[in-house]
Amino acid sequence: MSDYERTFEARGHLYNEGTRLCPRARETERRLLIELLDCHPGQLVGDLPAGGGYLGTGLREVVGDAGGVVCLDPSPVFAAGIAPGLLRAIAAPEALALTDASLDHVASLAALHHLDDKQPYVEEMFRVLRPRGRFAVAEARVDSPTARFLNGAVDRMTETGHAGRFVAEGELAARLAEAGFVEVSERYHEFTWDFPDHATMVRYCYLLFGLVKARPDEVARVLESELGVIEDARGSHLRWSLVYAVGTKVEAGHGSGRRRIV
Ligand SMILES: C[S@@+](CC[C@H](N)C(=O)[O-])C[C@H]1O[C@@H](n2cnc3c(N)ncnc32)[C@H](O)[C@@H]1O
Repeated sequence: MSDYERTFEARGHLYNEGTRLCPRARETERRLLIELLDCHPGQLVGDLPAGGGYLGTGLREVVGDAGGVVCLDPSPVFAAGIAPGLLRAIAAPEALALTDASLDHVASLAALHHLDDKQPYVEEMFRVLRPRGRFAVAEARVDSPTARFLNGAVDRMTETGHAGRFVAEGELAARLAEAGFVEVSERYHEFTWDFPDHATMVRYCYLLFGLVKARPDEVARVLESELGVIEDARGSHLRWSLVYAVGTKVEAGHGSGRRRIV
């Protein structure tokens, strides 16, 4: 495990506490990704890497009790937040303990920026999907306010720093096509994280990002200056953005030569 990966071990419990504080704050972010998968009740789907299983919990609402959600993450501290009822394992996404063609659909939210080499990961997603299975991924775009905030304010205000390797425009679509996915599309979305009030927004971001070196007023100021906050009768809304991409597996691609069967 690298020094950078160790930072996630240190932050994981705060991340999960933030999600518990306001479980629906990232609802739009999650819904945009789940809609790309077009999954149905009874299917077996993956949230990889899952962190505390935020996406997995949303997927469970779609596939229901007749289906299943597999959540894998390399960090036991993050994975401790995965809800009961989801299938949980500690594993890096580039070395999945899953058989070939075992999942109906797979999604990955805000995690690719931790990987130096993203292509083996995309190929691993291809390998574990069944024919007609979809892989949907969302990640921060290089030079977006989200990326600048993560590698700027979050880097300065955490004990551990943040050095995300974000994606360029068109990069996700190119990587999916390279791995063998077809019907590939990519789109940049701007949306908000939604909170009942300003204090909950500040506390949530303090926890989720582990901003332990900053006072609450400093967190509030940086959210407003670097991301932008909209206040209305429903509460406080923090501007956020990600690139979303999706592709479908129809037949063997470049990633299909790898075989890891547990
Ligand atoms: C920002 S969290 C996102 C988690 C979750 N998908 C979500 O949206 O809440 C990033 C996750 O990537 C995982 N991670 C960090 N380095 C990794 C690596 N080298 N390989 C795989 N996962 C990694 C961390 O354990 C963490 O759970």
